[in-house]
Amino acid sequence: MTTPAPDPVKNPLRDSTFLRACRGETTDHVPLWFMRQAGRSLPEYRAVREGTAMLESCFKPDMVVEITMQPVRRYGVDAAIFFSDIVVPLKAIGVDLDIVAGTGPVVADPIRSREQLEQLRPVEDSDVEPITQAVKALVGELGSTPLIGFAGAPFTLASYLVEGGPSKDHLATKRLMYSDPDLWHDLAGRLAVIAGGFLRQQVLAGASAIQLFDSWTGALSLADYQEFVAPHSAAALAAVEDLDVPRIHFGVGTGELLGAMGDVGADVVGVDWRVPLDEAVKRIAPGKAVQGNLDPAFLFTPEEVYTRRAAQIIEAGRAANGHVFNLGHGVPPSTDPDALKRLTDFVHGYERV
Ligand code: CP3
Repeated sequence: MTTPAPDPVKNPLRDSTFLRACRGETTDHVPLWFMRQAGRSLPEYRAVREGTAMLESCFKPDMVVEITMQPVRRYGVDAAIFFSDIVVPLKAIGVDLDIVAGTGPVVADPIRSREQLEQLRPVEDSDVEPITQAVKALVGELGSTPLIGFAGAPFTLASYLVEGGPSKDHLATKRLMYSDPDLWHDLAGRLAVIAGGFLRQQVLAGASAIQLFDSWTGALSLADYQEFVAPHSAAALAAVEDLDVPRIHFGVGTGELLGAMGDVGADVVGVDWRVPLDEAVKRIAPGKAVQGNLDPAFLFTPEEVYTRRAAQIIEAGRAANGHVFNLGHGVPPSTDPDALKRLTDFVHGYERV
């Protein structure tokens, strides 16, 4: 059961630079935000998190509000990304998992059989009270800066659940997918309901945009993506289709999948650094915006090196129907925050002629 949209469904920040760019409308600068802008690269984040486990912090509204605000205050980015994690809705419905510092999500009983799917029930509003409370508080705090809600896409969530933790080759996940397609589709279908429901809960609490992270789906061929993943990602994105929010869809190493990832219902397609934006546009159906795509490695180069590359990216982004500047993946924890501040100022000040 999905909660009906309030009436009238109108996003109060729809004229912000970020939301205009997501819809392909003209803006006076290229808006930007950074994936993983809230996190270990910020000393103020490390100070707030001191003594609190990652997952515990995601269920403390005051902490979520403070950590989400930190990069907005420091950099003046055009959007805030909600401080949470892709495994938070799974934790909220009782899946036995943890986030281990320096490793990532670790699942106690990796999924191997149909009986284990029972636990993957839809997320009820009462499961995520602290999250929706944090979204509501943030919307007030952020004022004119839009908040991006997010969820992990079915393939990426399934990878953690099946592997039991981070994986480079996703072997166990692919083995399950290829050898027991019925079990795979049941698993991915349930994860689509969880992800879609969680996105909807964030939007109804006040988030202005959503991003569906399919970080690891670049491990698949286009044909397998279409057969095993696309229908489920489409279902997750369809859960917020009736709401006035742009839907961003991102994965790493997805050059071969960009068109297909747009076709599952994205308004904005996230691009990593491997494909230039003007080439990405040719691979994506017309009318969609793009987001990206500075290689995070540039944050460790002299200012003239990363600003030169940022300028090339802005120029390439002109080929798109809307461009949101971002990194090609998350901010590395060892990044100097001053580099992100200078990059923000450079992108905001870039002359559009
Ligand atoms: O600014 C933001 O983006 C903050 C919100 C955010 C986090 N995780 C916080 C976090 C978001 C959007 C995510 C998404 C996420 N989580 C993804 C998709 C994005 C991507 O990077 O591809 C994935 C695959 C995860 C799973 C996950 N959680 C990983 C790989 C890690 C890092 C492990 C490590 O310690 O290096 C986490 C933990 C995590 N999520 C941290 C943060 C700030 C670090 C934990 C800490 O501070 O102790």
